Amino acid sequence: MKLGASRKIFAVAAILVNAFVAIDAMANALAAAADLPTTGKEAYERGCASCHSAGSNGAPFIGDHAAWGLRIAQGRMTLYRRTILGKGGMPPRGGTQWPDATIRLAVDYMVSLN
Ligand code: HEC
Repeated sequence: MKLGASRKIFAVAAILVNAFVAIDAMANALAAAADLPTTGKEAYERGCASCHSAGSNGAPFIGDHAAWGLRIAQGRMTLYRRTILGKGGMPPRGGTQWPDATIRLAVDYMVSLN
């Protein structure tokens, strides 16, 4: 085989490998998206209840209206932002990798219970 031909085969193989890597990355992203909670209640139960149902780590617990009243008075946007960035004993996004929209669902659900 001539050197030129084997170079071309190598180049084609490299393109194929790159394509497979890209497809794999897309599949992983889709799998992660498929595993996202779809309701605020589900998000709360999966990602937030560990702290907020018991009030552990100093988290304001669900049903503690006094603790939530002042926080809710800050406005929804502030609650979203603080949850996404993390606050005090709460890690960013409550320790999840969820996108902003899912975090907002969870915050809305928590606010609706208080
Ligand atoms: C590791 C424990 C932990 C987890 C998990 C957690 N939180 Fe928190 N959260 C806290 C603590 C502690 C605070 C109080 C922070 C402070 O005021 O210093 C808090 C405060 C909040 C507040 C009030 C913020 C404010 O401005 O006063 C909201 C809203 C909130 N959490 C939403 C969520 C949501 C939504 C989730 C799930 C996606 C979640 N938290 C998961 C510990 C947690």
